[in-house]
Amino acid sequence: MTAILGIETSCDETAAAIVVDGHDVRSNVVASQVDLHRKYGGVVPEIASRAHIECFHRVVGEALEQAGCAPGDVDAIAVTHRPGLVGSLLIGVTAAKTLSWAWGKPLIAVDHVLAHAASPAIALEGPPWPAVGLIVSGGHTSLYRVDDFESITLLGQTMDDAAGEAFDKVAMMLGLPYPGGPVIERTAAEGDPKAVDFPRTMLGRESLDFSFSGIKTAVLYTVHGQGKTSGGLESLTPQRLADICASFQAAVVDVLVAKTMRAVARTGVSAVVLGGGVAANKALRMALGSACADRRIGFHAAPMPYCVDNGVMIAALGYHQWRRGDRAGLNLAVGSR
Ligand code: KG4
Ligand code: ZN
Repeated sequence: MTAILGIETSCDETAAAIVVDGHDVRSNVVASQVDLHRKYGGVVPEIASRAHIECFHRVVGEALEQAGCAPGDVDAIAVTHRPGLVGSLLIGVTAAKTLSWAWGKPLIAVDHVLAHAASPAIALEGPPWPAVGLIVSGGHTSLYRVDDFESITLLGQTMDDAAGEAFDKVAMMLGLPYPGGPVIERTAAEGDPKAVDFPRTMLGRESLDFSFSGIKTAVLYTVHGQGKTSGGLESLTPQRLADICASFQAAVVDVLVAKTMRAVARTGVSAVVLGGGVAANKALRMALGSACADRRIGFHAAPMPYCVDNGVMIAALGYHQWRRGDRAGLNLAVGSR
């Protein structure tokens, strides 16, 4: 039995969890800073770093307490060391090194995006590999071929905005609060996804890369056009707002599903996994699930609590790295990309 303490501070969530043997989740504590960043419409790096410092002790303490663990029961400490905001990563990595030294426990360096890619496996009996992994978050939109926990190959990625970033920026254009994803999803529920024909940027027949800057501009023009005739954002009726949200969401989902199925055809694998903050979107989960069902291949979305940033996925991937003898030194560096 191997208990890993997973620590995550790459963006605006301070998170810690205890996971045994990569799947048995004993605790999952997440301190979100969303309220601190909302009035700026996005994450302010300096505020994020300070908030991580302020709540790190409490979050790790709660993770140990909820799991009924003493430091001596922890076998290793897994920490996100890339990618993310450098100041935020430094807080988590420095704190993890300190605990590693003070407790005499090994340190494991985990890549945040690969942890999102492995997160759907946490709830499964057996690993779903080989699979195509679609990872969609505020910082990343990538397609991977996942052959095993240690064998993950990048197939395609966004050329500009990440999908979650597009949700956040479009929400801001529409006068909706940060983070944009959940509020656009809620608003879209009352709208018609066919009301506005937003572009589906496919970047050619072969490409597995993404681009969301075109649709962002199209939303801006839709609102602006409305403005010329009737006074801009203020004149958007609740129904029009809902229609724009529903149409935007449908266009993003169409592109994500089409590219993922293109990757399935290219690789010949028989499963798809979905992770990252945008994986919480029900329209995306349903559309990708039904595309996989049509093709008679497996579909595994990360469980809802493990979509947004969390320590469970760090501890879970950290466990597989631990098994193969992967250890980091106290000279571990952080990486923004
Ligand atoms: O994985 P995550 O917590 O942080 C990063 O690693 O970026 O993802 C946060 C992103 C934000 O852009 C947020 O708007 C988006 O995930 N998101 C959603 C939903 N919930 C969160 N996007 C669409 N629909 C949602 N329900
Ligand atoms: Zn993330």
